[in-house]
Amino acid sequence: MDALIALLPGDGIGPEVIAAARSALEAVGKRGGHRFRFSESLIGGAAIDACGDPLPPETTKACRDSDAVMLGAVGGPKWSDPNAPVRPEQGLLGLRAELAVFANLRPVRVNPHLTAASPLKPELLANVDMIVVRELTGGIYFGEKHRDETSASDLCTYHVYEIERIVRVAAELAMQRRKKLCSVDKANVLETSRLWRDTTDRVLAAEFPELEVETLLVDAAAMHLLSRPADFDVIVTENMFGDILTDEASMLAGSLGLLPSASLGATKCGLYEPIHGSAPDIAGQGIANPAACIASAALLLRHSLELEEEASAIEDALDAVIADGCRTADLAAPGEPALSTSEFSAAVIEQLR
Ligand code: IPM
Ligand code: MN
Repeated sequence: MDALIALLPGDGIGPEVIAAARSALEAVGKRGGHRFRFSESLIGGAAIDACGDPLPPETTKACRDSDAVMLGAVGGPKWSDPNAPVRPEQGLLGLRAELAVFANLRPVRVNPHLTAASPLKPELLANVDMIVVRELTGGIYFGEKHRDETSASDLCTYHVYEIERIVRVAAELAMQRRKKLCSVDKANVLETSRLWRDTTDRVLAAEFPELEVETLLVDAAAMHLLSRPADFDVIVTENMFGDILTDEASMLAGSLGLLPSASLGATKCGLYEPIHGSAPDIAGQGIANPAACIASAALLLRHSLELEEEASAIEDALDAVIADGCRTADLAAPGEPALSTSEFSAAVIEQLR
């Protein structure tokens, strides 16, 4: 197949992990006889520096003209002045809104070879395999903001149609898996969560009677994720809760550098990005873990290009090199030698051949 992929390296370690994901896509494309072409555009702090706009119109256009989009990371101390007129993160949020990718899938699996990297007891980590479905284009991230000398506010709004469509995505995923769905809200305090719960209950009862459904308040969910992580199959939640819970869940896998994500909407053109940030503390050193970005490339192959075999090949290659002992600095045990970003990605590519 012929496909055009828009790359948005962004800031910090973004360019380093995007380079690794690109080589993995090239390797798997070559193997399967596909022609993947790539464009590269600015976003985030890099775009602010170049033209003062974290999401230049050319970038949006390049994404719209592509079959799928891969993003590295945005942000960094250089652009973090709380009074700055524009921020890198606005580029990413703007892009998610422009592409209308409302469903953010964040799979969390524990590789048995990495249980030592997690702060949790190994017996809790056996059989952990869940997908967190995070609503991505609504809620407090996108509500009206207000600031004056003595106060500030962020408005959190959800519409019924936004809740219905994300719950359907999550429920359909659960139907293909272990048929368990957990919806997370804060219905004891928030009106948006009460709407979330009413809507979720109604959609699930009417359309997905076969699912085993659980509802948790977000504070309890944060605890249950650590006390019984293997119980979860699909978790569905609103934008900010999903952001927070998936950073927490990355510690089950052992590193924030391992978790990929796919953001999907009504079209095939998805946005794929690691869940980690730009990691300015290690940027430019060539030591970032590219696994999350490479795994995001696998999700791109699966969801945007429908190349399931190629997607699994990348995931299997990642598992194989980890089983072989390849570890970047975030995963290496104290005293154990660590691979650089390019050494790790070379090992994955070797495995793909
Ligand atoms: C993420 C990130 C972003 C978010 C930031 C960079 C805006 O933390 O993708 O999880 O909060 O959504
Ligand atoms: Mn986040």
